[in-house]
Parts: sequence; C-alpha cells; structure tokens
Amino acid sequence: MSRTILVCVAWPYANSSLHLGHIAGTWLPADIFARYHRLKGNRVLMVSGSDEHGTPITVTAEQEKKSPQEIVDFFHRQHAEGLKALGISIDCYFRTSHPDHKRVAQDFFKELYDRKLIEERPSEAPYCPSCRRFLPDRYVEGVCPNCGALDARGDQCDRCGNTLDPSDLKNPRCRLCGQAPVFRETRLHYLLLSKMEKPLLDFLESRRGWRSSVVNLTRSWIKEGLHDRAITRDLSWGVPVPLEGFSEKSLYVWFEAVIGYFSATQQWARLSGQASAWKEFWEDPKTEAYYFIGKDNIPFHTIIWPAMLLGRGGLNLPANVPANEYLLVSGEKFSKSRGIGAKLNECLAEFDSDQIRYYLASIMPETSDADFSWDGFVSRNNDELLSVIGNLVNRVLALTQRTFGVIPQSGELSSDDRAALAAAERCARDAGLAIEQCEFKKALKEIYVLAQTGNQYVNAQAPWKLAKENPDRARTALHIAIRICRALIIYLSPYTPMMSQKAWAMMGFEAPVPNGVWDQALGPLPANQKLGAVGHLVKRIERDAKTGKEQAANL
Ligand code: MF3
Ligand code: ZN
Repeated sequence: MSRTILVCVAWPYANSSLHLGHIAGTWLPADIFARYHRLKGNRVLMVSGSDEHGTPITVTAEQEKKSPQEIVDFFHRQHAEGLKALGISIDCYFRTSHPDHKRVAQDFFKELYDRKLIEERPSEAPYCPSCRRFLPDRYVEGVCPNCGALDARGDQCDRCGNTLDPSDLKNPRCRLCGQAPVFRETRLHYLLLSKMEKPLLDFLESRRGWRSSVVNLTRSWIKEGLHDRAITRDLSWGVPVPLEGFSEKSLYVWFEAVIGYFSATQQWARLSGQASAWKEFWEDPKTEAYYFIGKDNIPFHTIIWPAMLLGRGGLNLPANVPANEYLLVSGEKFSKSRGIGAKLNECLAEFDSDQIRYYLASIMPETSDADFSWDGFVSRNNDELLSVIGNLVNRVLALTQRTFGVIPQSGELSSDDRAALAAAERCARDAGLAIEQCEFKKALKEIYVLAQTGNQYVNAQAPWKLAKENPDRARTALHIAIRICRALIIYLSPYTPMMSQKAWAMMGFEAPVPNGVWDQALGPLPANQKLGAVGHLVKRIERDAKTGKEQAANL
C-alpha cells in the first residue's frame, strides 16, 4: 500500500546566505527522505520557503541601510537558486511576504480567535529610552529565568531551548546600547497555551519513532507548565493583525512562519492547477507529515505549531519531527584558509553538488553535533565516493563495454553470485529501514558496505581473466556485477542524485531513475541492452589544491 508523505523543511530566514549548517541540519535529510519515498513509490510533497519577517530581517536591513523588502528579495532568490543547484527536490519554495501566505496566516489567526484560543490582553513592550525605540524580541538580552544563562534573547534561550517573552528576562538590556529597557503598556494577543497542555501531552504520547531527545525535551516543557504567549507585536514589518484597531501591529514571526507549511501546500496546489489538491496532504489522516528542523526550532514544531493545529482542528498533526543537532565548522577552517567558506554558494562554485551531499550525509549531526573539516571532506570524497563507489561502477561498465558492448546474459548462478545478490537485498532492506527512521548516516554506511562487497566480488571473479578463459562465466559475472551496480546507484540516488543519474545513463537506461524502482532494483536486467558512453563519475579533490578563488587572488 503506498503512503502519502508531506515533507516540511524549516524556513530559512531571508537575511543571510545559506550555509552548510542549514544543509546538513535540515535540507539534505529532508531531500534524502523525500527522494527515498518517491523511489518506494509513495506520494510525496516537499514544501518550505523563505522566512521573511521578524527581527533577523529588520536587523540586516538596518545594518545595510536597505529596506526589508530589498533584503528578502535578494536572499529569497539566492536561497531558491542554491537549493536547486544542490539538487533539492522541493515542490514549492514559497515566501512569507507573499500576499497568499499573509491571507492564509490571517485566516488561521481568526479561526483560533473565534474558537477563543487567542485573547487580547494588556501587555508590556520593551522600549529603550536611550535608543528611543520599541525593541524587537531579539534586541532584548538578559538572564534566562529557567536556566540562568547570561545571554538569553527575548525570544528564546539558546542554552535550555525554552521560548521566552522579552519580559521574562532578568536584568534585561538593549542589544544596541546595553541600557536597561523600560516596559511600556500596549495591547497584544495571546495564544492560550495553558489550555492546551492535556491535548499536547496526548498528542506527544501518541507519536511513534521520535528521537528521544525531541520527545524528552518536549515532554519536560509541557510538564513544567505552558504559559500563554503573546503572538502579536508592535512592529510594522510583518503580517498585519486581522482585527479592527490592530492593523498597525503584526503577527509574531514564529506564529505566522509555521503556518507557511500550510500556505505553501496551498500555493503548490494552485500552481499545479488543482486548487484543492492540498487537502490530501492536510486533511487525510493517513498522510504522514515530517518536519526537518534544527534543534533550536524544536519548541515551535512540537508545541506551538501542534497547539495551533489542535486548536483549529481538522488538519494533520506532525507524524515526526526529526530535529538535528548542529554542524560545526571547526579546526583548520574549511572556510577562511581556502577562501571557500561554509556558504552553500561558495561550495557549489568549487565542487559538484553530490560531493557536498555525500560528505554532509556521512557526518550528519543526527544525535550529536558534528564537525565539518577539509580533511574529512577530501578523504570521504577520494577514498569512498571515488575509489570505492565510483570506481566499482566505472570498472564494471568499462570492462563490459570493452568485452561485450551490451549487458551480457547470465548463465547459471554460482554460490558467490547468489551471495553477492543476497548482500544487495539485505542492503535494500536495512538501508531502507534506516532512512524511514531518519537515520541517514547509518543508511549511507549500509550502502557503502554494499559497494565494498561489490568490489570484493569483482576482484574475486576477475572477469577480465574470465573473458579469455571462460567467456560464459565472464558474461554471468559481469551480469551479476551490473545488477549490483544498478542496485547500488538506485540506493544511492537519494544521496547523490546527479551521479546516480549519470551512472543510470551509462548502463543504457533512459533517464531519469524512475519513481517506485527501489524494490525492483535487483530485478532482471535487460540482457543485450546497449551501454551508454562510460566515463568517470567522481572528481578527485587535491588535498592542497588551490581553489579557483585563491588562484584568482594570486594572479
Ligand atoms: N527561520 C527559522 C530559523 O531559521 C525557522 C522557521 S521554521 C518555520 O530558525 F516553520 F517557522 F518557518
Ligand atoms: Zn535558559
């Protein structure tokens, strides 16, 4: 029975370039997951977009003396292009400044307001007397009331992960001038999370397969007691509050950004010409929604968004929120010393997208922070992707090309042949299961081991010798080797889609690698199929190579 899966990816702020942390943390796992499920024949929709409101944007706009709209236009485009170049197979990359998003967010607000889950209350907004301005949440810093961290921000504490209001901070200070802000009276709207503790706990306890860190954090936050949260702000850059007398205020950026998953699905439906196609992904309870986010986003996706969904009713709750830890770029800086930087577009200018994807997948920060290093990158590329994976496919196809020109027919199978096929079958099962459980690093390892097994098989059979001594056996051995290679490139294609595509064409198949092929990856080969042009799949990276940028600088 085929499944329906909505893949949601955290919306990057449109105020700075995407870096490898975004990729390893959210985009790559989401894309591997989406591509795998398409290969399994499941129905998949992947949505995200640019998070264009909130303090990060206004801070950058002020620093650069530009309008917020100019900033987000620039970065929205850069993000969309970078993701495409990296091979991210997203169906809709939307943006929160789009009028259709604003309308959906306002309607959502009104639904909750009508259900009495949002309430207007007197409140206090931080105002800095020396800067003479109201301060956005992130401009207020101080001591975390929960864990005592000294540098908590008015929206969240990075140490304990709790979400905060600026007025929660002890010893608050203005980030711009360091003075203590005063709190001026205002009227804001509050989301009544205190009413939602029980349904949220029931929701949490009914989920299966979540990472323990994500469940435990969420459970402890709920058990500590949830506070009602202000979800509007005295800001003009944002989605206007859809109530009379409040249109000068905006919806809190997190409140409207999470609604983006819903508005982007509707946008996709509209653009695909079937305006109600979104319902399948949000209203059919059999659909599974996965949210790929970084760990600092956990409370917004396991508490606030589910509370909003529960409050509105009729829409699917998250099936899983496989939050990742952080990718650190450390040591002998990948970035600075080589002028490459951990920015996505700089890396894409130097390397093939699959080289970046393979390395990031092999060190993905799934259960602990991971370290990104130049040495690691070069080794994984040269010693694994090139020498073990690329070479296997290359030597098998090149030898077949020279010897037979077509995929040879197999004779009777030996026990070695059967053992090699059995290894590939195990790989399909184990790697598939690992990917379904969002253990992407583990799955990649299984697939790598299959490539090693394939190389051992070819070395042991020595088909180049057999070709002279026993052509029938040579045909069978190469037939089996190609079968293993075909399985390998199918299993790898969620990780390295471009390379798999190339290898697919080298085998003489018509591109692209088709959906639904995962479980047939080991099936019979079209004997006598003509091979395509056989060439190298992976470029070597010289450990001390100068990058294009460095070379240019030395001219
Ligand atoms: N822009 C946020 C961040 O980078 C993530 C927003 S996720 C969303 O941390 F769902 F709210 F959009
Ligand atoms: Zn804290």
